[in-house]
Amino acid sequence: MDDRTIAPRDMSRLEKTSARLRSQIACLGLVIERIAGLSGPVFELGLGRGRTYDHLRWHMPGRDIYAFDREIVPIEDCRPPEECIVAGDLAVTLSRYAARFAGQVALANCDLGSYRQAHNEHMAALISPYLPQAVAPGGFVCSDLPLVLEGFELLPLPEGAVEGHYRVFRREGN
Ligand SMILES: C[S@@+](CC[C@H](N)C(=O)[O-])C[C@H]1O[C@@H](n2cnc3c(N)ncnc32)[C@H](O)[C@@H]1O
Repeated sequence: MDDRTIAPRDMSRLEKTSARLRSQIACLGLVIERIAGLSGPVFELGLGRGRTYDHLRWHMPGRDIYAFDREIVPIEDCRPPEECIVAGDLAVTLSRYAARFAGQVALANCDLGSYRQAHNEHMAALISPYLPQAVAPGGFVCSDLPLVLEGFELLPLPEGAVEGHYRVFRREGN
């Protein structure tokens, strides 16, 4: 492969990023509306620069949002309060927080993907077993990665979301 060869895929990196962000906003919009009557914290898995975290707190003021990442490097004005930062590898932190908030989490938003397929498969397999424990009946998981979640249904995407770039799962019950 020389410098000008592009590995096969269905769109450019820029288009992929745009599709993911548009889909994330549309899916979170749907879920934010649907959890208005459901108490319980939100988990933001993959704080990154804190843009999605900022979106969540903007649209759900007053809700406890626990932000997980192995590197805590948000944009300065997107930093969660210290007591809501969960620093460390999800392989260690998620099982602890899933047990602490068992059956209470109204929404777990998972934004953990990278350009590496092996990483994505590893993360999907790592988090899938813990989310059913954490999420409340009638609660939601949104994810950029395909997950296998026992006891959840995959919902049709809302308008504005692009198939394959974000997903909404609802836990059965209530
Ligand atoms: C796509 S970025 C998240 C972007 C973020 N939503 C934002 O608005 O800026 C993915 C994040 O997942 C984190 N991450 C990846 N693997 C992880 C792991 N095993 N444990 C904890 N965090 C991880 C990375 O450090 C990275 O910040």
